[in-house]
Amino acid sequence: MFQVAAILDGKRMVLGTCYYPEHWPELMWKDDLRRMLDTGIEVIRIAEFAWNLTEPEEGVFTYDFFDRFLDLCDETGMKVIFGTPTATPPAWLTEKYPEVLNVDIDGKTYRHGARRHYNYNAPVYRALTERIVTKLAAHYASRKCIIGWQIDNELNCETAEFHSEADSAAFRLFLRDKYHTLDALNKAWGTVFWNQTYTSWEQLHVPRKTVSYSTNPHEVLDYIRFVSFSARSFCKLQCDIIRKYLKPGDFITTNGMFGHLDNHQMTKESLDFYTYDSYPNFAYCLDMYKDADALKDRRWSRNLMEVRSICPIFGIMEQQSGANGWNTRMEAPTPRPGQLTLWTLQSVAHGADFISYFRWRTATMGTEIYWHGILDYSGRENRRIAEVRDVHEKMKKLAPVAGKKYQAKVALLKDYDNEWDAELDRWHNRVSWQSESSLFAAAQHSHTPLDVVYLDHATAEQLSAYSLLFAPHLSLMTPERAAQLTAYVENGGTLVLGCRTAYKDVTGQCVMDKLPGLLQDLTGADVPEYSFIAPDAGRVTVQWGEDAFEASVFTDLVEPLEGSVREAVYTSDYYAGSGALVSRKVGKGTVYYYGSAFNEDSARLFLRKLGTANPCGDALVLPETCELAVRGDQEKRYAFVLNYLKTPAQITVRRPMKDLLSGETLSGECTLPGYGAVVLEI
Ligand code: GAL
Repeated sequence: MFQVAAILDGKRMVLGTCYYPEHWPELMWKDDLRRMLDTGIEVIRIAEFAWNLTEPEEGVFTYDFFDRFLDLCDETGMKVIFGTPTATPPAWLTEKYPEVLNVDIDGKTYRHGARRHYNYNAPVYRALTERIVTKLAAHYASRKCIIGWQIDNELNCETAEFHSEADSAAFRLFLRDKYHTLDALNKAWGTVFWNQTYTSWEQLHVPRKTVSYSTNPHEVLDYIRFVSFSARSFCKLQCDIIRKYLKPGDFITTNGMFGHLDNHQMTKESLDFYTYDSYPNFAYCLDMYKDADALKDRRWSRNLMEVRSICPIFGIMEQQSGANGWNTRMEAPTPRPGQLTLWTLQSVAHGADFISYFRWRTATMGTEIYWHGILDYSGRENRRIAEVRDVHEKMKKLAPVAGKKYQAKVALLKDYDNEWDAELDRWHNRVSWQSESSLFAAAQHSHTPLDVVYLDHATAEQLSAYSLLFAPHLSLMTPERAAQLTAYVENGGTLVLGCRTAYKDVTGQCVMDKLPGLLQDLTGADVPEYSFIAPDAGRVTVQWGEDAFEASVFTDLVEPLEGSVREAVYTSDYYAGSGALVSRKVGKGTVYYYGSAFNEDSARLFLRKLGTANPCGDALVLPETCELAVRGDQEKRYAFVLNYLKTPAQITVRRPMKDLLSGETLSGECTLPGYGAVVLEI
């Protein structure tokens, strides 16, 4: 990251909104800006889909529209984040240069008429992007009201798959650079299997339709790495230009978070900070998330946990303020009274110091006519704007929290290779999805703040800040990652691994070794046999000392090697009596190899037995339905308690503590109203 931005200065919380001057008669602009400022909104994001307004024809540039609008911003004191318009290439562009269009895996071209229909690799799109971004930055970046820039909009949203000819050409270069010889590539992709051997670079393409979509998994892993590389380089191309024109103190960001993209690397190499678009109301969508997830909107804390790992203090570029709905899909109700505030505080609890609501007034035309903003179509005063005003008052009171990071002693380890490999690996996907969701739910319900850490971006110092790391199923293992994990344990950390660890190498091929492969030495464990739990196996139980619990999805039979301890055994089916959990002391720390995937019970047991559950339990007794999040530093810590239910929650405050929101000192039995929250000095 390059610099701390004015809106994340660590001194206060800032409110914003997304505004589209092109959607409203010019006569309304000034009044809108004044009204926003009156509401406590001091920043707007504009222009991210408005290419035609500055380049209506190829090579013809017109600046007057945004000049007139920015004049009003300067006049009223509104601050502006200016978006580059590359998410929506104009019709003149895609008509003249159809090679810029993205293509699906069946070879069908995505046409003009929606958004994100371009690919990152067509040379002409990169050239036209370079030109429009240069023109915009050269013309607007010096404006007083502009404080920062947003690159594109939601890179890899709508689709994270690219199958155009331009992508194939760029993929070939990417592969040449990586492998140098076809021999090396053929080996890494195991192309001897099913006679896929390549004898010339021209035979290589981004994945195309194959019989039963059974594309080579090692190829697909490299393809996803390539998509991430393409998106990052497209972002960097724009950032490098804007940086030349940026006023001192101004920033560059982009909004996420979407798949097939190493957001950590992108942020490090291109951005000043990261922003996220948070729509917890998806949890109530009729056509999405049908699998009743008990955590509902609280599950967005899991996304926020990922965002924190990219950028500990971040912004929310789009925060839910109204109902969700496109004309074609996504029906979710209007936030109930209090939910807009709750979801704002959820973002703040996880490290957001800038909250920008999507959007000021609901669009009266286009695909998003049901995606409501703060105001309805008429712009009349309503309940939601009153709530935003109240949020503004709350944000003032939360100024002491600004700049303070989320505090957790437990983390979930991940890395991009494993995440991407899992996409095309149903076995692995099943265990990793199950374990990650369960660990998150267990941490939430036991009030144990949890971080996520990406191993490919973590220093030894960052890892050592955690007393307990879960690396549930790192199937792809490299000598470097094995060394990172070993150093963490040697230095005193506790590491818990799950089944299916370290059975693949970095290409995604399985290792011809005893399992867990490269982690045999560290774990002192041997896995002689493994299997999915058969559908007719019934409950597969595990006994760990006094505690019995159920295994999930998969069983590695795991036995201790010399110097290790068999901590738990399976107690049912043909596994009865075989090892289920092995531990080993290494240096100052301990490593555990658990032979199954985690469910909420086993995850909670590990948290409890390893002494990390509920770290604020001496100060607060909370029902499971409330989330606990802590932000702080050496000197001060603030506990956010968020009630996601519409009914009141009873909490016990075990010693007198000041609530920043009400200014009152709480003690003993207290009632949080439905969707209510407190922020306690702990
Ligand atoms: C976001 C996007 C916005 C708007 C919003 C509602 O994903 O960045 O432009 O589309 O969703 O659909």
